Amino acid sequence: MSQVIKNTECFVREYMKKYDCSHDWYHVQRVVRQALALAKAELESRAVDLEIVHLAALLHDVDDAKYRDDRDEPFSCVNFLVGIGVDKAKAEIVRRIVDSVSFRKELLAAEQDKMGVSSPEEREWRRDCVELACVQDADRLDAIGAFGVLRCAAFSGARNRALYDPDDHAADEITYAHYVRQSSGTTGTAVSHFHEKLLKLTLMMKTKRGKQEAERRHAFMIQFLHQLDDEFSFGDGNGG
Ligand code: ADP
Ligand code: NI
Repeated sequence: MSQVIKNTECFVREYMKKYDCSHDWYHVQRVVRQALALAKAELESRAVDLEIVHLAALLHDVDDAKYRDDRDEPFSCVNFLVGIGVDKAKAEIVRRIVDSVSFRKELLAAEQDKMGVSSPEEREWRRDCVELACVQDADRLDAIGAFGVLRCAAFSGARNRALYDPDDHAADEITYAHYVRQSSGTTGTAVSHFHEKLLKLTLMMKTKRGKQEAERRHAFMIQFLHQLDDEFSFGDGNGG
């Protein structure tokens, strides 16, 4: 393993200690492993820079807006990478990927595309950057399936949100503004998050291998939600 990767791992492992267990070093490790696996599958049909994938996967949750505190020093991904010997152009690509990975950023970008405020270069880059696709798909894989269920409950617990409220109905169409309010406020429940985000991720996957794996995990989430409804209705006169 290169010294650049080792130094980045060392920094991120320490950094993630300030988040709860939905976004911890173990999450980063799973995303790295999955991103590299997706990248290797993509290598069969196109060129992929594995070092960019590895660095962006390691750094993707550093300075996450949901956890940012006004007292925190802003983190410069480019300065960090240049400081450990990465060339500036490569560091800029990693920074751009890290900035674009999240679901909320993708919602924002889609709204900006609709309004015609994003440049053609920006749209093409988002569509064609294979390294972004690998890191984004890997992060999404860890948001769905069995780990997705655990992480959603963990995040809800850390924010003191309810697990389930039968009167809380998730909105059908999620806008950027709604999602930002929801993820930084105290509204919504763990189960409404499935409807607002987690069940939408499978259709947003960009790599072939990622899509296949997402479908398996999606089926598990559907089964989980059915089980939940089933359990909830026990004793209400209709269920068992
Ligand atoms: P993104 O950066 O793509 O928006 P997040 O880091 O917000 O992704 O989400 C990662 C995971 O954290 C989610 O998949 C979910 O498990 C958990 N999470 C985030 N926001 C919420 C929320 N509002 N309610 C419950 N879980 C959440
Ligand atoms: Ni993540």
